[in-house]
Amino acid sequence: MAIMIFLLVVNLILLLVIFSAFLGFVMTRVPFVPTRASDIEFFAKELGISEKDTFFDLGSGDGKVCFLIEKQTGAKTLGFELTWWTHWLARIKRIFKGSKAKFVNQNFFKHPWSEATVVYGYLYPPLMKRVEKKFLADCRPGSLAVIRDFPFPGIKPQLVFRLPKNHEIYVYRKSG
Ligand SMILES: C[S@@+](CC[C@H](N)C(=O)[O-])C[C@H]1O[C@@H](n2cnc3c(N)ncnc32)[C@H](O)[C@@H]1O
Repeated sequence: MAIMIFLLVVNLILLLVIFSAFLGFVMTRVPFVPTRASDIEFFAKELGISEKDTFFDLGSGDGKVCFLIEKQTGAKTLGFELTWWTHWLARIKRIFKGSKAKFVNQNFFKHPWSEATVVYGYLYPPLMKRVEKKFLADCRPGSLAVIRDFPFPGIKPQLVFRLPKNHEIYVYRKSG
């Protein structure tokens, strides 16, 4: 009997995860695909991200980027994630890692970005015009947008890093 209840609970959790992933994809049109750890470590070092920075991950998935940036640089990190299961996975990982990273189950377009000195996005082309507009409208002069694979359509990057497996990191600095 106990094993039956256990299997039922596991199946229910799995169903919830699949449903939430599907719902998340319908809402955001962006699947959860994590950035490679070595790519995160590379750009953090190249850009000199430090404990003075406030780093936002736009669509933080399971929190991997925030955890690595916090560990490597000491920056304050905040991740926004709409999909329920990845958001909660990040919150659970946070406890085990003893991390101070913050995660909100919220649409990043609905939150001001003015506090961030670095915003990171691994998103999808149809979203990028809106992300570019919000970066230019919200972020303070000198802030960076670090964008993986799908560049802003309207402005030229200050830097482009070509990474293994055909990935690219585009870096934009807010002028003014
Ligand atoms: C490709 S994954 C990247 C995850 C993580 N940033 C990384 O690089 O490992 C993109 C994530 O953004 C989330 N997302 C897309 N649009 C969003 C929005 N408007 N607000 C919050 N999260 C969003 C998706 O649910 C997905 O988990």
